[in-house]
Amino acid sequence: MSVPAYTLNDGEELPQIGFGTYTLRGEDGIAAITSALEVGYRLLDTAVNYENEREVGEALRRSAVPRDEVKVCSKLPGRHHGYDDAIRSTHESLDRLGLARLDLHLIHWPNPSVDKYVEAWQALVDLQRDGLVTSIGVSNFTDAHLQRIVDESGVTPAVNQIELHPYFPQEEMRRANADRGIRTESWSPLGKRQAPFTEPPVADAARNHGVDPGQVILRWQVQLGALPIPKSATPERQRSNLDVFGFELTAAEMAAITALGRPDGRLFGGDPDTHEEM
Ligand SMILES: NC(=O)c1ccc[n+]([C@@H]2O[C@H](COP(=O)([O-])OP(=O)(O)OC[C@H]3O[C@@H](n4cnc5c(N)ncnc54)[C@H](OP(=O)(O)O)[C@@H]3O)[C@@H](O)[C@H]2O)c1
Repeated sequence: MSVPAYTLNDGEELPQIGFGTYTLRGEDGIAAITSALEVGYRLLDTAVNYENEREVGEALRRSAVPRDEVKVCSKLPGRHHGYDDAIRSTHESLDRLGLARLDLHLIHWPNPSVDKYVEAWQALVDLQRDGLVTSIGVSNFTDAHLQRIVDESGVTPAVNQIELHPYFPQEEMRRANADRGIRTESWSPLGKRQAPFTEPPVADAARNHGVDPGQVILRWQVQLGALPIPKSATPERQRSNLDVFGFELTAAEMAAITALGRPDGRLFGGDPDTHEEM
């Protein structure tokens, strides 16, 4: 299955849907990631803190898909925000993955109470300059965090990966990203366990278009201009989650799904101003 691409503000391309790998570990994890590549995913999202960079690298080697056709994204953890730690951490990620270069590297969380995310950003800027990382970005950054790293480094992230699903549609952050030319990537794009598959706007759209509710939610993501990274260990779901380019939601369907947003829609309280993830 061929997936259209987004062009980033640094001129690089990413597929409009990627594959989330959180919780995929060990032999079962490698099998699930290899299956995702076979089904057609060409962007794999991992992180130091998922403790599965080795599995991602092994799946890449086992799969028949050439390395150059796959984008690999990892994330720098909070405990490695110091400049030298960030450089070392990235080399260690490359070693675990068995790769010479990351296609995308993100600061996982800003951890503002530690207040070292500007140092971490400077390290990513230098790693990009030195050719170890192709594109650089952030995750869970607010408007203020974005403004600060851009002001202090002069370099705008290519991507900001944020929580985004129908219960948490993130209109302000999507605008803050778009105003700077930053591509919004969506984590927990299906809403994970709270998945709003049975909500009438989702179920009705699924019936109207002859697709399943997961496809409606991922199509909604793409029509927002976001890049969702759904995780599934199930080959059939992996396939259907990628198969969202043959139908289009109407403006009314889009608006009804976005209106599912609610004040308590955020998953596990991950507010970037207060949440610490080391
Ligand atoms: N940057 C961050 O701070 C951050 C935070 C959280 C997550 N992430 C990234 O985002 C990725 C995706 O988020 P996520 O894993 O939290 O949640 P998600 O992709 O929204 O949901 C995954 C869950 O939904 C199920 N599922 C997948 N497709 C389905 C379908 N079509 N119908 C019904 N159920 C379906 C999966 O079960 P099965 O596996 O059984 O199919 C799994 O339990 C992660 O893997 C990770 O890479 C990043």
